[in-house]
Amino acid sequence: MALIQCGKKRNVAIGENKEETLKLCCSHFIAKAQEAISIRGTFSVALSGGSTPKTIYSMLSKSPYREQIDWQKVFLFWSDERCVPPNDPESNYHMAMTSGLQTLSIPPDHIFPFKTMVHIPQSAEEYDLLLKNKVGGVLDLVLLGMGEDGHTASLFPHTEGLLVTDKLAIVNDIPQKKTHRLTLTFTCINQARNSVIYLFGENKSAIAAKALLEPDDIQECPVQGVGTEKHPALWIMDNAAASDFCAR
Ligand code: 6PG
Repeated sequence: MALIQCGKKRNVAIGENKEETLKLCCSHFIAKAQEAISIRGTFSVALSGGSTPKTIYSMLSKSPYREQIDWQKVFLFWSDERCVPPNDPESNYHMAMTSGLQTLSIPPDHIFPFKTMVHIPQSAEEYDLLLKNKVGGVLDLVLLGMGEDGHTASLFPHTEGLLVTDKLAIVNDIPQKKTHRLTLTFTCINQARNSVIYLFGENKSAIAAKALLEPDDIQECPVQGVGTEKHPALWIMDNAAASDFCAR
């Protein structure tokens, strides 16, 4: 596994292949969990949605990874959520739990999905307060993916949510998808002690290279808003997703 510093806000870890990179994602998750639990007695993590993390959640729920975390001390949040019922196949909560996390001994009162069956602006306000009250606005780890348009969480190009700085969680209107979604803001993501972006597959290679090597423009490429000098983002990519980045 190669580890590359990419400017002052991003570090890049490249796995040799998909299988090795998945193991790297799990090992990193476990290391951050064990670190947080040893220091503060708990581990708070915001889970990402989409398809990439399904396998990671499944692996964490099984040996040899399952046994390496005291799940009773874990608090689950979400990086974003679609405005669908919690049992909807499109739900990020549903995806994470059914991928295996529901088999772990995480206390039910430690699991905090966005409420999607209430007035959505109220749900965002409640989540903002929840993050402030439960973790003081500082998560131990935020998991993220990236779309081929450079979005991360539900912070899409040219959307108003990109500019919100006084909230930890918001409703973001996404005209290009004709929908709105609940999402953490850059303020919340970059206050976290750690953030990690999981990227797999050739289809992400061009946008990954753009995000990592070209000047920041978060309106065009929101994922460039993740990471600070104090809390650099870790990009974990397989060799396919890293192919353009390595070729430049
Ligand atoms: C979502 C995610 C979103 C996702 C990217 C990448 O709700 O869909 O939060 O930001 O991480 O779209 O999705 P894939 O992992 O499916 O490529």
